[in-house]
Amino acid sequence: MNILILGSGGREHAFAWKLHQSELVNRLYVAPGNAGTGKIAQNVDLSLDDFDSIGEFCLNEQIDVVIPGSEDPLVNGIVDFFQSEAALEHIYVFGPNAESAQLEGSKDFAKIFMEENHIPTAGYKTFNGEQIEDAYSFLRELNAPYVLKADGLAAGKGVVICPTLEEADQVLREMLLDSKFGRASSRVVIEEFLDGIEFSVFVMTDGEHYAILPEAKDYKRIGEGDTGLNTGGMGAVSPVPFVDKTMMDKVVRRIVEPTMIGLKKREMEYVGFIFIGLISVNDDPYVIEYNVRMGDPETEVVMPRLKNDFAQLLDLCANKRLNDIEIEQDPRNCTTVFTVSGGYPEAYEKGKNITLDDVEGVLFFHAGTKKDGDSVVTSGGRVLACSAFGQTLEEAINRSYEGAESVKFEGKYFRKDIAKDLMN
Ligand code: AMP
Ligand code: GLY
Repeated sequence: MNILILGSGGREHAFAWKLHQSELVNRLYVAPGNAGTGKIAQNVDLSLDDFDSIGEFCLNEQIDVVIPGSEDPLVNGIVDFFQSEAALEHIYVFGPNAESAQLEGSKDFAKIFMEENHIPTAGYKTFNGEQIEDAYSFLRELNAPYVLKADGLAAGKGVVICPTLEEADQVLREMLLDSKFGRASSRVVIEEFLDGIEFSVFVMTDGEHYAILPEAKDYKRIGEGDTGLNTGGMGAVSPVPFVDKTMMDKVVRRIVEPTMIGLKKREMEYVGFIFIGLISVNDDPYVIEYNVRMGDPETEVVMPRLKNDFAQLLDLCANKRLNDIEIEQDPRNCTTVFTVSGGYPEAYEKGKNITLDDVEGVLFFHAGTKKDGDSVVTSGGRVLACSAFGQTLEEAINRSYEGAESVKFEGKYFRKDIAKDLMN
């Protein structure tokens, strides 16, 4: 099997690392990739919004499977593009078409879908600019804090949680009237605040059957104790201690099954990953969001814990036979800690020289790195994810920290409290 992975983050490196171990994989490409993927696969300089060039590359290199890492190509219709071109039709793009990608691409769409299928989620209403007076009134029916979400994709920044009504009014105005998030905030979903603890469940589906991958919890804020600005993710753990069998059964019965049935009812063709962002409120799971891809940095702990051959899973999906196999999870704990550029998620410098030692038991997944001659330099905010296993969570996280300490570049920062909240 020849495979092309689209993206350049830790998630894509983790996919490549896993596929590199499979005897079913013949040639492996990552576009555009990073310094880490370049060691185990061939990096290709392709732009992720240039579907024509991606298609041409796939034909030239006889690609069988394309795995889009992030949501953008999916929401922009890469699946529809491949299906509409006779020459590309036979290539399996592992992701949903543009219509189904609306589950992530439009918060309002996702809310309507959940409502239709009685899937537990926060109460909400959606408003456009002309309905701002109704939106002010709705805010006054809710209690603080107030959750305002830009309907469309806003590079992970479209959710604002406001502690006071004054702030909520102000942010609402900025979103609806001043295009705070461009077109993405021309409609705003206002929802009830749910107070609980978050985790994520990952589903793989071939359109007929589904399989559940190891669950994870990520750490989104830049500062220790979950403070400061939101980031792409500063660390993750899998398994999640409070997600026991009872909780997982609730998630499957109340959320995963109705989601699969809902997709069928709407005749939405959906293959690929469904990443369900959840919050446990008094031991009951509620959906915070759907994503139509894997998470980053969650993939950096999920792929290591997946014992199955990932290429075999993709092959089974392509043949709509995912039900032929049981998912096997490594029972050990896996953690990851992201080393990031000083200043991130605000302005930071790039091009810093990186030195990296082998640390026993640590898997380094590259994100914002690139080759510069013989050296590897930083090229993004999140630089390297340091993943490690342990019999206990403590053992795993201590190893991840050994990895994070050993990574050297000017301005390096990482959170020192990943997994701490789960260890007492
Ligand atoms: P999202 O982009 O939808 O994942 O939202 C970003 C973050 O905002 C989530 O990870 C939650 O921490 C928080 N959030 C979103 N919706 C809610 C809600 N209804 N109640 C509490 N927190 C929320
Ligand atoms: N770690 C959250 C995400 O990938 O959206």
